[in-house]
Amino acid sequence: MDTVLTSSPTEAAAFVRRGQLAAFPTETVYGLGADALRPEAVEALFEAKGRPADNPLIVHLVARDQLAQVVAAVPPVAEALLDRFAPGPLTLILPKAPDLPSVVTAGLDTVGVRFPRHDLARAFLRACDTPVAAPSANRSGRPSPTTWQAVQEDLDGRIACILRGGRTEAGVESTVLDCTTTPPTLLRPGAVALEQLRGAVGTVATPSKNDPEAPKSPGTKHRHYAPAARVKLVREPSTLEAEPTAGYIGLAAPPEPDRLRRCHVVPDAEAYARDLFHFFRDCDHAGCSVIYAQVVPPEGLGRALNDRLERAAAR
Ligand code: TXA
Ligand code: MG
Repeated sequence: MDTVLTSSPTEAAAFVRRGQLAAFPTETVYGLGADALRPEAVEALFEAKGRPADNPLIVHLVARDQLAQVVAAVPPVAEALLDRFAPGPLTLILPKAPDLPSVVTAGLDTVGVRFPRHDLARAFLRACDTPVAAPSANRSGRPSPTTWQAVQEDLDGRIACILRGGRTEAGVESTVLDCTTTPPTLLRPGAVALEQLRGAVGTVATPSKNDPEAPKSPGTKHRHYAPAARVKLVREPSTLEAEPTAGYIGLAAPPEPDRLRRCHVVPDAEAYARDLFHFFRDCDHAGCSVIYAQVVPPEGLGRALNDRLERAAAR
C-alpha cells in the first residue's frame, strides 16, 4: 500500500473514518490511529505494528462527552485528574464500556483513555468523530517515533496515512495511571510526573518491579524502545572509555566526546526525554554498535526516563 503523507488533519481523519490506519502527532510521541469502534480496523493496527495481541491500546478522545462511548464509569478520583490534567499526557485506566470492542483492550475489562493536548492531534480527533485507538506509531519493540520521518521509517507501506507535524514536545509517552484501584496505581511513569499526580490527588501507589503480584500494564512486560545498537546504562560518564562506534547521551559530558561517533549532552531531564528516542534512531543511522546512556535521579521526569532506558537496555 502507498502511504499518503499529508499535513491536513481532515484528510488523515478520512482514512480512519474509512476503517484504515493513520499516524498522527501528539505532545508525547506519534500515535497510530484506528477507529476504536471497528474491530477489523483495530485488528489491522495490531498487524501493522507487529504488536502482541495481549497488549491493550489507549483510546484517544477530544471531548469529555465521548467518555460514555468508551468507559462504564468515571470514579471521582478520575474526574479530579481529568479536571487537572486533561487535555495532556496522562492516560487513565477505567472500567470498560461493554460496547467497546474487546480487541482494543486485549480482552481486559478496563480501558486506557487519554485526551491529547497537541493542536493537530485535537483537530485530527475532532475530524475522526469517533474514539481513536492508538499505540505509539513504531514497529513493536522499536523506539517510539518523535518525528513523522521515524513513523515512515517503521511503517511506510504498512499504513494508509501519516499526518505530518513537527517533532513531538515531550518525547516520552503518557503516564498510565490505574484508577480502578484505591488509591490509584502508577502503571507506567511518563510525561506527567508522579509528584504532580500526588499533588493533585494525594496518595498514588507505585508497584515495585520485583513484586510478581504487582498489578502491571501488560505492555510493560514486553521488550521495548530498543534501537539496533546495544544500549548500556552508565551512572558515571567520567569513567567512560571512548570507542569509535559508540554513542553517548546524558546530563554529564563524557571525557573524550570527539572519540565517540555520536555524543549528545543534554541540559536537563526534559531535554533528555525529548531527545532520547530521536538520538537512538540517529545512532542507528550512524552505524553505532553501542549506545551509552546515563541514568538520571529518579524524580520528576527522571522516573520515566530511567524506565525507558532500563527497557531499552534489557536483552
Ligand atoms: O503517549 C502515549 O501514551 C502514546 C500516544 C500515542 O498517546 N501512546 C502509547 O501507546 O504510548 P502504547 O500502546 O505504546 O502504550 C500503551 C501502554 C501499554 O503499556 C499498555 O499495556 C498500557 O498502556 N495499557 C493500555 N490499556 C491498558 C489497560 N486497560 N490496562 C493496563 N494497561 C493498559
Ligand atoms: Mg509503544
